[in-house]
Amino acid sequence: MKTINKVIAGAVTLSMGLTLAACGGGNSGGSSPAAPAATQAPAAASSDGGTKTVGIAMPTKSLERWNRDGEYLKKQFEDAGYKVELKYSDNDTNQQNNDIQGMIADKVDLLLIAAIDGSTLSQTLGDAKSANIPVIAYDRLIMDTDAVSYYVSFDNYTVGKLQGEFVRDQLGLDSTDKTFNIEFTAGDPADNNAGYFFNGAFDTLKPYIDSGKLVIPSGKSTFEQVATPSWSTDTALENMQNTLASYYSDGTILDVALCSNDSTALGVAQAITSDYNGGNAPIVTGQDGDIANLRNIVDGIQTMTVYKNVNDEAAVTLEVSKAILSGQTPDASLTDSLPAKAAFDTESYNNNVKVVPSYLLVPDVITKDNLQKLVDTGLYQWDADKKYLESTAATT
Ligand code: BGC
Repeated sequence: MKTINKVIAGAVTLSMGLTLAACGGGNSGGSSPAAPAATQAPAAASSDGGTKTVGIAMPTKSLERWNRDGEYLKKQFEDAGYKVELKYSDNDTNQQNNDIQGMIADKVDLLLIAAIDGSTLSQTLGDAKSANIPVIAYDRLIMDTDAVSYYVSFDNYTVGKLQGEFVRDQLGLDSTDKTFNIEFTAGDPADNNAGYFFNGAFDTLKPYIDSGKLVIPSGKSTFEQVATPSWSTDTALENMQNTLASYYSDGTILDVALCSNDSTALGVAQAITSDYNGGNAPIVTGQDGDIANLRNIVDGIQTMTVYKNVNDEAAVTLEVSKAILSGQTPDASLTDSLPAKAAFDTESYNNNVKVVPSYLLVPDVITKDNLQKLVDTGLYQWDADKKYLESTAATT
């Protein structure tokens, strides 16, 4: 198997001292009256007059976005007067349990957790609950526990839906009699988000698959068949190479590689570049706006990415946390004062024990034609040649 440049595999470590953009967007939802203002100490001050500490557990540094999340969260919480304990757990569930146990032992006042495996934290979070530490599931829902109070994420189903709609519109599926070939690459089965992304895309394209306008030459049409453990770029590369060797070596044309996110799209695009001989440039979808993928978009190797502004996600998380830490019960009314548009949802995210109240931000489609939108967030900038984008964080 050909190896892939590890720099682009997402291990982009962002430096401290980020340039944070002003959080944009209007507000949505929320018709009930504003929650009462805290009567006790300010949210950042603990009852004994000290500073409150927030424990942040991120999954790994090996995928670009979590470096951003960790740094944005840390900066924003510290700027708001909190102490922060930030841990990355190397995509190892045991380590993440240990890291969170350490935070509980350190008596943090709140836990923010992006789970590696949504189903492996129940016992640890039982301990958090016994210690009266509230838990926010950050970006990924934590399953099988009643100890999680809130979920802050993007509308995950919509992420996949946007990918499916993009493919539908690019191919003109509603106005053509042609048939097209598509292959799917999904995410990590341990990540509760991955199924939402896949379903959002698949449900959108299913009518065209059913009518025969879209054909899946490999026959791999279920999430389980196309999942990518750990969202690994190398695994996605290898899987696509195998698919191309088995179903496309006779000159069959691949029109679409529907990839759930950028780390998998990176591997799939690499496989297409090295192992596909069809002559066309298949549509390749992604999600996140990772720097290497934005480069591929400029170069025509990837077609789109669904962008989720994780600086806004951090900002919304801060507001939810502040409310919890000042003794409030955040609800729909909080959306009126959030720094980014988010819907309050009390129906969609059932973790097998309870429906977790959720704040869901809005994702956006980015293509070669609207990369400037990313620059406008303040989180990206054009490089010296005005050709590719780079992170503002990496250069400050
Ligand atoms: C996140 C995606 C990310 C993926 C891999 C998911 O839980 O929502 O943004 O691409 O994990 O890191």
